[in-house]
Amino acid sequence: MRRPLIAGNWKMHFTVPEGLEYALRLRHDLEAFATLVELVILPPAVMLWEIANALRGCPVEVGAQNASWEDQGPFTGEISPKMLAGWCHHLLIGHSERRQLFNETDEQLNRKLQAAFRHNLKVILALGETLEEHDLGRTEEVITRQLSAALYGIDVKRAIDLTLAYEPVWAIGTGRAATPEYADETMGMIRNLLAGKFGQLASEIRILYGGSVNPANARSLMEKPEIDGALVGGASLKAADFTAIVQATAEVVQSARA
Ligand code: 13P
Repeated sequence: MRRPLIAGNWKMHFTVPEGLEYALRLRHDLEAFATLVELVILPPAVMLWEIANALRGCPVEVGAQNASWEDQGPFTGEISPKMLAGWCHHLLIGHSERRQLFNETDEQLNRKLQAAFRHNLKVILALGETLEEHDLGRTEEVITRQLSAALYGIDVKRAIDLTLAYEPVWAIGTGRAATPEYADETMGMIRNLLAGKFGQLASEIRILYGGSVNPANARSLMEKPEIDGALVGGASLKAADFTAIVQATAEVVQSARA
């Protein structure tokens, strides 16, 4: 079993003081699970530095939700991977909200991935099909395109710094999570694609599931062999819910070891 990773994507929520207070609460609540589950929170950029400092030395790591492919320059409103390097551990790239609402293309996401790796950030690369693509039976085609475009030119050695997040767009924020069976099957297909790119190393790359993960469905998702953790949106904003998801994951690890 790969070591699971639970990441909380806060999206555009909380003021800076609220975010800091919440991160400290999570540090307290989650520390006990950190030997079994890798823990990451993805706060908004404006509070990232403050939270990273507050969590220094603690097993809850921080990541950015987005960054440019450029290191610096006249790019108003952007933050660069160079600015994150050395203190921010992870970078989320390719979330469907970035793809859909901010028109990010596969080619841009590939440049972001290259830039992130240049600065030694660990990348969580999100992909997944829309409802329309799903209903048209185009899931495999869409994911194949997203993955091969994002990974174009990426060195095999970088496999260890890569985590994927399969997030069917129709499951995000809808309360309608994919069934564990559907997620597991699709993620098995994704792992086959990874094997084509990275060979044996593909078996070490974690693939997270994202889309309406909550305390009630977390366990049944995490029990599936291809599901190596979760990228959690709405439920990551409430300490009790996020902690329950982490706890359910830790219990799955424990029972696999028993
Ligand atoms: P929800 O958990 O709110 O469905 O969001 C999933 C997501 O987009 C995480 O990145």
